[in-house]
Amino acid sequence: MKYTSQAVAKPYFIFALILLAGEILFGILMGVQYIWGDFLFPLVPFNVLRMVHTNLLIVLLLFGFMGATYYLIPEEAERELWSPKLAMITFWVFVAAGVATILGYLFVPYATLTELTFNELLPTMGREFLEQPLPTKLGIVLVVVSYIVNVGMTVIKGRKTVITTVLLTGLLGLAVFFLFSFYVPDNLIADKFFWWFTVHLWVEATWELILGAILAFVLIKVTGVDREHIDKWLYLIIAMTMVSGILGTGHHFFYMGAPEYWLWIGSISSAVEPLPFFLMILFAFTMARERKIEHKNKIALTWAKGTAVMGFLGAGVWGFFHTLAPVNMYTHGTQLTAAHGHLSFYGAYVMIIFTMIAYAMPILRGRPYGNCEKAQQLELKAFWMLNIGMVGLTLALSAAGLVQIFDQRVGTDLIGFMESQESINGIYMIRLGFGLLVLTGLFTYFSSFFVKEPQEA
Ligand code: HEM
Ligand code: HEM
Ligand SMILES: [Fe+2]
Repeated sequence: MKYTSQAVAKPYFIFALILLAGEILFGILMGVQYIWGDFLFPLVPFNVLRMVHTNLLIVLLLFGFMGATYYLIPEEAERELWSPKLAMITFWVFVAAGVATILGYLFVPYATLTELTFNELLPTMGREFLEQPLPTKLGIVLVVVSYIVNVGMTVIKGRKTVITTVLLTGLLGLAVFFLFSFYVPDNLIADKFFWWFTVHLWVEATWELILGAILAFVLIKVTGVDREHIDKWLYLIIAMTMVSGILGTGHHFFYMGAPEYWLWIGSISSAVEPLPFFLMILFAFTMARERKIEHKNKIALTWAKGTAVMGFLGAGVWGFFHTLAPVNMYTHGTQLTAAHGHLSFYGAYVMIIFTMIAYAMPILRGRPYGNCEKAQQLELKAFWMLNIGMVGLTLALSAAGLVQIFDQRVGTDLIGFMESQESINGIYMIRLGFGLLVLTGLFTYFSSFFVKEPQEA
């Protein structure tokens, strides 16, 4: 570790991984409920599991981004973090708020939770991904502001690189677009319209900058390729992201009450969105091929390449499937959407956090050359289990989506929702099977942390 303040990243990484375990576990419980509807009834209803599953995902990604930033910013800025103490206070505040919120979801009926948390003062609850009670939302704003001030001050006082600029721009965007979670118009069309300003402009614009910056950082470190070379790629990727992703928001404004021109704007702009994700593949593989050093931490480069490939598949390919208006008319809100939601969030964002942890964690644990051969082999096994599990789960959901579309939306002789769901039961079993593989992969991954180094044994 070059700078002692980088150590604050460690608790962020660990907590992100704990949340990931919870997230996947809740996913599996839901996978079971999909097949046996009364599983855990009336203890934990599906809507609660779903809220916990998706909220844990968002929060774990935020912890992961923060850990990644606190690790890479001192090295990029070539100075200690502006305030490691603030970073640790932020950590504990965020942990407390996160845990309290999840416990609230699990043990207090949601309607009661709205009353207990002053939702009537400023109604913000009840929207997918943004279900958090008002105090939690305000807590998130505080945490994010303190994080950005900390990172911003470090960058202002230190060396400025393309990576720090892109990262900071992404973080500012993350903060600004979260503010739309406080704006909930009564009109349902307007409500949905602005909801996407947070959700879409996070995952398909601002977070992509964060993703690109972290990927570039790890690639510089493990390939030894010149920064100038990496910077050019990063510029190209973020330029393509901005060109396509911002107006691409329009792919959520089809047939929902927004003006008709969105059919064209949304389809055309978002059709370009896979491009930056494809560039990330070229980027990662070109840098790996032209590497100037043989870093002993091989698994970090494997994760980096994996992120680029899986991000492209999940966001680029599975996103493109349903992004053109005439297609979306049939696919909207089916299991095909869930298939895309899973592979994109996993492939782009969960995996970039695995990538950063694979690179940084060994260093934080006093192993500058990465973990020992045996630990890396085990981690590689986990890498394949996680990826095969997620791809299998995605393929199963895609098949389920297709059945749904042909059962309910194409041609005549259509059947009802419940009847269609009944016919998909077998596929949901397969989804559950792959989900269990994902969980096994995660535990294998965890166990790789406990492999003793030869000199420690
Ligand atoms: C890191 C891995 C995972 C990620 C990133 C993830 C992400 C997501 C996302 C983004 C959603 C919302 C989807 C949408 O609204 O379209 C969701 C819902 C869901 N996930 Fe996951 N998930 C993961 C693992 C799992 C696993 C292993 C299972 C179970 C086998 C699972 C089962 C579900 C179910 C049943 C839903 C609700 C779908 C519905 O409302 O019908 N997830 N997940
Ligand atoms: C890593 C980046 C991405 C993530 C994490 C992501 C995630 C998601 C999620 C979770 C949903 C479901 C939201 C809901 O209604 O509950 C969704 C919907 C959608 N995404 Fe993405 N996405 C990404 C990139 C893309 C890209 C690049 C495209 C297009 C090429 C795309 C096209 C769409 C479309 C058209 C929908 C609406 C589906 C529907 O009508 O039901 N996404 N995305
Ligand atoms: Fe989108």
